[in-house]
Amino acid sequence: MSGQLEGKAVVVTGAGRGLGEAFATHAAQAGAAVVVNDVDAELAERTAANIAAHGGRVVASGHDVADPGQASALVELAVSEFGGVHGLVNNAGLNYEAVSWQDDPADVRRLVETNVLGVIYVGTAAARAMVRHGGGSIVNISSGASFGQRRLATYSASKGAVASLTYSWALDMEEVGIRVNAVCPLAHTRMVWASERSLRNCPPDRTPSRIAPLVVFLLGDDAHGITGQLVRCNGSDLHIVGQPYVKEPVLRRPVWDTTSVRRAFAEVFAAQLEPYGLEKRVPPTMREWTESAAGGRIARPGHDRSA
Ligand SMILES: NC(=O)c1ccc[n+]([C@@H]2O[C@H](COP(=O)([O-])OP(=O)(O)OC[C@H]3O[C@@H](n4cnc5c(N)ncnc54)[C@H](O)[C@@H]3O)[C@@H](O)[C@H]2O)c1
Repeated sequence: MSGQLEGKAVVVTGAGRGLGEAFATHAAQAGAAVVVNDVDAELAERTAANIAAHGGRVVASGHDVADPGQASALVELAVSEFGGVHGLVNNAGLNYEAVSWQDDPADVRRLVETNVLGVIYVGTAAARAMVRHGGGSIVNISSGASFGQRRLATYSASKGAVASLTYSWALDMEEVGIRVNAVCPLAHTRMVWASERSLRNCPPDRTPSRIAPLVVFLLGDDAHGITGQLVRCNGSDLHIVGQPYVKEPVLRRPVWDTTSVRRAFAEVFAAQLEPYGLEKRVPPTMREWTESAAGGRIARPGHDRSA
């Protein structure tokens, strides 16, 4: 792996602990000069000191990605220290569990500001810098929760936004030489320790280091031509996530009134509804047809897994 990122400057947000720390450390081991960012500045310093102790080129940043001015300053730090930005791992994120009708507006705002606006602020600032020297690679950290997950609605929505951003940025940025992909990880971190359910779905051997090689690959030139992809890795399984698509049949008539909509659902869509959420829950109207076969769910191997 050594040398994969030689000569590149990479920014990793939220790199004071957990997945971000592993991404920054592996990027440095692969030869990159790294900006280790974390709003917890002491943790950023700790990760940076560890990289420096192993001979890496590194600078720590305590900027808050949710603040547009600080997001720009974080990218400018890479430019002033290392002469440019070739890679960005948009990793900083927050999570909490709540049933949706008890969601607290202040928690919602802070989460969206970090997980969505923070990704946009740092991503667009980095893209402006990358355009100046002919391109780069952005890796956004999304989540399997973006498929829809109980008690994680706001977090799921933020990670769905990250997936949509990835597709749109990949479309926009190809002409300026910037590749944009997203990773849905699963690893033992503080975020997982905070949730009993997540802990059950994440064996202790799923360390952040097991996800880092995928991120380093996507940052590097070996991933030339790979853009617009959502890639899921839980330590042992690695797969591409299918893109949303328009499902056939598409019904057409000049005007849809309530009678024709009702008929469409009764006569055509009744058997076309999709199992939904990460757990692939079968819609109630279809359950009597599927329960005996698969315990209330349509069996779709490989789809019924946790984030
Ligand atoms: N751990 C998993 O299994 C898992 C699964 C899916 C997605 N993710 C995503 O991976 C990313 C990393 O998660 P983790 O599990 O390592 O979590 P973590 O809580 O261990 O680390 C996240 C880091 O981000 C930092 N951070 C938070 N807000 C910030 C801000 N505004 N500016 C700068 N830094 C900020 C925190 O201080 C923390 O050090 C997150 O985006 C998370 O949503 C994790």
